[in-house]
Formats: sequence, structure tokens, C-alpha cells
Amino acid sequence: MTLDSKAPAISDLRDRARRRIPHFVWEYLDSGTGNENTLRRNRNKLDEVLFRPSILHGEIEPDTSTTFLGADFPVPVGVAPVGMSGLIWPDAERSLADMARKSGVPYCMSSVATRLPEEMSPHLGPHAWFQLYPPRDKGIRLDMLKRVRDAGFGTLVLTVDVPAPSRRERQTRGGLTQPPKLSPRLMAQVAQCPAWALGTAKLGMPRMRFVESYAETKVSNMSLPSNAHVGYLLRTSPSWEYLDALRQEWDGPIIVKGVQNGQDATRIQKAGADAIWISNHAGRQFDAAPATVEVVADVRAATSLPIIADSGVESGLDVLRMLALGANFVMLGRAFHYGLASFGGDGAAHVIDIIKNDMVSCMHQMGQSNLSEISQQIFRSPVV
Ligand SMILES: Cc1cc2nc3c(=O)[nH]c(=O)nc-3n(C[C@H](O)[C@H](O)[C@H](O)COP(=O)(O)O)c2cc1C
Repeated sequence: MTLDSKAPAISDLRDRARRRIPHFVWEYLDSGTGNENTLRRNRNKLDEVLFRPSILHGEIEPDTSTTFLGADFPVPVGVAPVGMSGLIWPDAERSLADMARKSGVPYCMSSVATRLPEEMSPHLGPHAWFQLYPPRDKGIRLDMLKRVRDAGFGTLVLTVDVPAPSRRERQTRGGLTQPPKLSPRLMAQVAQCPAWALGTAKLGMPRMRFVESYAETKVSNMSLPSNAHVGYLLRTSPSWEYLDALRQEWDGPIIVKGVQNGQDATRIQKAGADAIWISNHAGRQFDAAPATVEVVADVRAATSLPIIADSGVESGLDVLRMLALGANFVMLGRAFHYGLASFGGDGAAHVIDIIKNDMVSCMHQMGQSNLSEISQQIFRSPVV
């Protein structure tokens, strides 16, 4: 039985993943914030983008390849940064980086991953991106940038949509703490997931090791308040001046992630960033945010920079929807983790196959042989 017959859609991977990871981990991966309106809106608004089917266009061979920031990609899709990825599935960071390298797509590592940037070096391909939650302290920031660069990451992604932690009530109900503490209730959940439990036991309890390496740091004068979690070191609310400073300090491409309107995009372009990443963090931050697909056209009109979009993408059709409205590239977060938790590295690679095959199938229906003119096929789309 092929993976495609076992799991033809990302929803199949999601169902299987849910059975294979402990409930508290599932709640971490799958939840939004508040009543999860933004989480649902991302999905519902994507479904509202309709295309005109095309008929009698003769034989075509749809080409899903694209160029982004000067590099060629077989599909306009990559792996979005997911914090504590290694909690979701043991050694997720290295498995996903391996998969991305082999598939020729970007892998973006989170600054709150469970692996250190240095441990990732042998696994990185030419499209290794590093996502930065802005450190409060300049000394820490400069040291992080140097380590990340030396480890082989060429593109920096600054996440700006986490000015403060969000409440994520479902995670709290699920018993998730930071760092995770295994209460008897959570232990009972772990016992039901032997593959996860064995893998995690081998590697040790997942922790935010990159940030932790600065907890008693020599590179700054900053000390951690006695009751603060180590994540405090990173959780600043960056300003435009912060972005200017980062632009001076990082000589490769900078992408700003978490953009949700055109005005900000214009200003980010002026600040010298290389790409805009439209995201609402998969509905995990603000329950009154618009769906990302609703703001793509506004951002497209406001900037000539390349645009990435994410949040709620579950198929090749969704990728085409984002591209048709003006995005140039699409990243997925949860889907790759569903794949990994279902079938390991092959499952993550299968996500790329699902996306690609679905894109090809839909492009046939739309009579489009490449990605450059799909916007002409829009029948209806939601715009704010
Ligand atoms: C469990 C989880 C952890 C995440 N951690 C981070 C993170 O550390 N840094 C970041 O910039 N975005 C983070 N994100 C947001 C993703 O990068 C991405 O924007 C989002 O997952 C895309 O939506 P999708 O999961 O529907 O594809 C996280 C998302 C999830 C689901």
C-alpha cells in the first residue's frame, strides 16, 4: 500500500497524527487562541476563493516550479518555523531539515526549536532559513546571529506577530506548561503513544536549548528575573528601530513574518527587508485577525517585494489560492508535523507530494500550464 492510498490528503495525516501523539502535545500543535475564530476563518476564507474552470484547452503539462529570492524551487512551498518541534515528534527538526534538503524546498528553523543551530549544520540544504524571536538584549542578538550564520543559515526571518504571549486557552486546559512537566495525567497520555514515548525517552525531554544557552550568559549583562521562564529573553515587542538595527547586522536576506496589512508592508520595504511573510500564526495569537487569504491582495498592492503567505493551507488548491491573490510562495507549519507524526520523514515528504499532485490536478482544471497567470482564473475571492 502506498502512502498515497493510506493518506491521500493532509486531513488523513492529521487524523493519524492525532492518534500517535499524546493529547497535551496534540493540543499544543493543533490549537488556536480564544474561541479559535481566526483559526476557522483562515480555513473558511480559503474555501471562498473560487476559480473559473477552463475547458477545451487541449493537452497541457502543468509546471509547479517557481523562483523565489533568486533561487529555483520545484514547488512554491516550504516548512514554516514551529517552536518545540521536537516535542511534537522526536527529532522533528533534523527530520524536517533532511526532508526539505532532499525535496529542494526551504526549511525554516524556529529560535525556540529543541535543537541547537549548530546541531543542524549537517542537515541543512541551500535553502536554510532561521526564524528569530527578537532577543531583548543586543549582546544576545549579535551572538545568536553569528551562531546561526556560522551554522549555515543564510536567510533570517524576523517574527513580529508575537508582541506578547497569547492566552491559548486550549493549551492551558490540555495541561501544557513551559517547560513541559509530566504530571500523572500527562504520563497516562504518554503511555498510550508508544512510538512517541520511546523516541522522546531516547532524546530526553524536549527543551528550548538555543534560548536556554543564554540563560546564564556571558554575552550580555542581562539577568533573568527569578520567576521568569527562559523565553523571557526573547519575548520583546520589536520596533521599527529594531528592524533597522537587524538590517545593519545581518548581511543576507531578511524576511519579516507576521505582516497583516499593506501599510506595514510598505514600511517594511522601506526598511530594507527582502520579503514580506503574511501570517497570523495559524490563528494562535489574535482571535479577531482577518484570515490571511483576505489580506494578500492588500499587501500585494502595497509592496513590490516577494510575498510569502501561510496559515490554514491544507492542499495544492489552497496554495494556488494564495498565489492567485498575489503571494509568491507559501509555507506550511502544522501539515508537515502531521506527516512526520504519521509516517516519520516519509510522511513529511508525502506532504510535498500531496501539494504538488493537487496543484497539477487543479491546474489542469484551470487550463494553466504554469503559475504566472493563475490570477486570471479567479472567479470570486474574499477581500477585506
Ligand atoms: C505548534 C506551532 C508552533 C509555532 N511556533 C512558531 C515559532 O516558533 N515561530 C514562528 O515564527 N512561528 C511559529 N508558528 C507559526 C508557523 O510558523 C506558521 O506561521 C503557521 O503554523 C502556519 O499555519 P499552518 O500551521 O496552518 O500551516 C508555530 C505554529 C504552530 C502550529
